[in-house]
Amino acid sequence: MKFFLDTADLTEIRWAADAGLIDGVTTNPSLLSKVAGADDPREILVEICRLVPGPISAEVVAVTADAMEAEGRDLAKLADNIVVKIPMIEDGMLATRRLAAGGIRVNVTLCFSSMQCLIAAKAGAAYVSPFLGRLDDIGHDGMEVIRETRAIYDNYGIATEILAASIRHPRHMVEAATIGADVATMPTSVLRKLMQHPLTDLGLDQFLADWGKLTARSKVEV
Ligand code: E4P
Repeated sequence: MKFFLDTADLTEIRWAADAGLIDGVTTNPSLLSKVAGADDPREILVEICRLVPGPISAEVVAVTADAMEAEGRDLAKLADNIVVKIPMIEDGMLATRRLAAGGIRVNVTLCFSSMQCLIAAKAGAAYVSPFLGRLDDIGHDGMEVIRETRAIYDNYGIATEILAASIRHPRHMVEAATIGADVATMPTSVLRKLMQHPLTDLGLDQFLADWGKLTARSKVEV
């Protein structure tokens, strides 16, 4: 399973990239708006593309097919690893088809049902992003969308990658990986939680304490 970081925070991205933990990054207008001093979000996107050689999703803010296509083409010029994020709306599918036909990879975002994911694949998306957390937030089962989409794509040999998005906690990661999502994009807080276990901390404390006793004893014996 590929790990993408769901942030535009350069410090977080640098840390995760240096540790070799991420294969790509997803951004959106909300995430870019949180970056302090980001007057030109395109500069941030270029820097992210420099830090991480994998796919970097950059979202259009236009909502008509022609404007989304034009914005997508502009974003794709920022770096070779840009993936254009297009919302799952009717005009978005036209823009997806045109961009994909021109060799630009598209991530169809704001997907909340397996049929939206199937439509996005038919339009030519390289990635589809079902938003698990936002479905759970309103009392639905977000993971069911991943489950259904995996089964449908496998039934028909669809190559579009399922990018589990809106990940809120490590359990989402376990389930998405078990079902076979191709990618999961997560906030840094979730990535850090994946590394943590209280027994790891307890075990390390114990090892260090025992080592301290051993070295204290050998000093006495010497
Ligand atoms: C995906 O690409 C989105 O940026 C993201 O996962 C949305 O997550 P949220 O529901 O936490 O905003």
